[in-house]
Amino acid sequence: MSARTPKPRPQQPVGVRIAGTGAAIPSRVLSNADLERLMDTSDEWIVQRTGIRERRIYDREGGETSETLGTKALLQALENAKVKPSEVDLIIAATMTADMPTPSAACLIAHHAGCGEAGAFDLNGACCGFIFTLNMAHEFIRGGQAKTVAVVGTDTITRFVDFTTFGRNAAILFGDAAGAFVLRADPDPAVGMQAQSMHADGGRGCHLYIPKRRESFYNPAEYDERAVDRIHMNGQAVFKFAVTKFPQVIEETLARAELKASDVDLYVCHQANVRILESARERFGLSHEQLPVNMERYGNTVAASVPLLFNELRAEGRVRDGSLVMFLGFGAGLTWGGSLWRV
Ligand code: UT7
Repeated sequence: MSARTPKPRPQQPVGVRIAGTGAAIPSRVLSNADLERLMDTSDEWIVQRTGIRERRIYDREGGETSETLGTKALLQALENAKVKPSEVDLIIAATMTADMPTPSAACLIAHHAGCGEAGAFDLNGACCGFIFTLNMAHEFIRGGQAKTVAVVGTDTITRFVDFTTFGRNAAILFGDAAGAFVLRADPDPAVGMQAQSMHADGGRGCHLYIPKRRESFYNPAEYDERAVDRIHMNGQAVFKFAVTKFPQVIEETLARAELKASDVDLYVCHQANVRILESARERFGLSHEQLPVNMERYGNTVAASVPLLFNELRAEGRVRDGSLVMFLGFGAGLTWGGSLWRV
């Protein structure tokens, strides 16, 4: 070995523990009854087709942004983990709604949470962003490059929603929130991610996108001034994609871990439409306890939905040490993925 060859690092297996979780929701509630007053829709239609009853909407004038919500969620997760902000090595924010193109949401969250000069960057995987972030953060710790990594899912997607009848298919679905996990290296190598899957198909990006200008419209015939900078969604196409890919990604992740569906204690899924989750529940014979839902209160909160739900489940004592938990997401891109953990 030459003098210049770096010494190989000892390959000790490192466990990764979800040491703490936190969440933040905006104070403004928008119920289905409120939507009835804004557009041609009904509580009955929304509940039947989606399972959603109300959602939270950020208050920009009141200072709520993806960054402030993300900071609140992170501080709660740090307190829950009994970790000081100065101990965090790296912060990754899953978001598609940073307040500005730069600085990133993660840089501002790190600053406001008092994380000193910890590394910080954003990852945009839309509604699957938190899953991708979780998978990546895990590998930084398992690979020995970091001891404490914070992952934050934060989105204020309703700024891209048109709250009139014109934009009703997105308006009924989406809400704003943030959630965070603090991940730490753990001496028990059995805890941490057991298997993961990450996929994308940009060829189907046209089904869910936010056109920024006339030229961004996939189909020029669909150009409408009211649709610029607003969510453009082919609901049926996204629905079909989700009910097909959701079971596939569960099967793929289980196969990689050599497990079967009933071995997993909890499926913490992206909350988009209760009918999508019901189809997965039926397909794998899962109970409501195994595949829980909270979208009736929050709607689809993009990258926040998975950490928001997991934080609730932990607070309710429904996550036991040693449980197997599969985190799942799908969304714009199109993107989809899974992350199976022994917690
Ligand atoms: O993170 C991923 C995010 N996106 C998703 O997960 C979206 C997945 N897709 C869905 O959740 C559903 O497609 C929606 C909830 C968006 C729509 O439900 P749908 O059962 O696919 O409804 P549709 O678009 O086929 O519309 C059925 C009918 C239409 O009326 P006609 O043509 O049958 O007379 C629509 O005009 O319902 C009407 N409609 C509404 N009525 C009341 C569509 N949106 C609404 C509404 N309120 N908000």
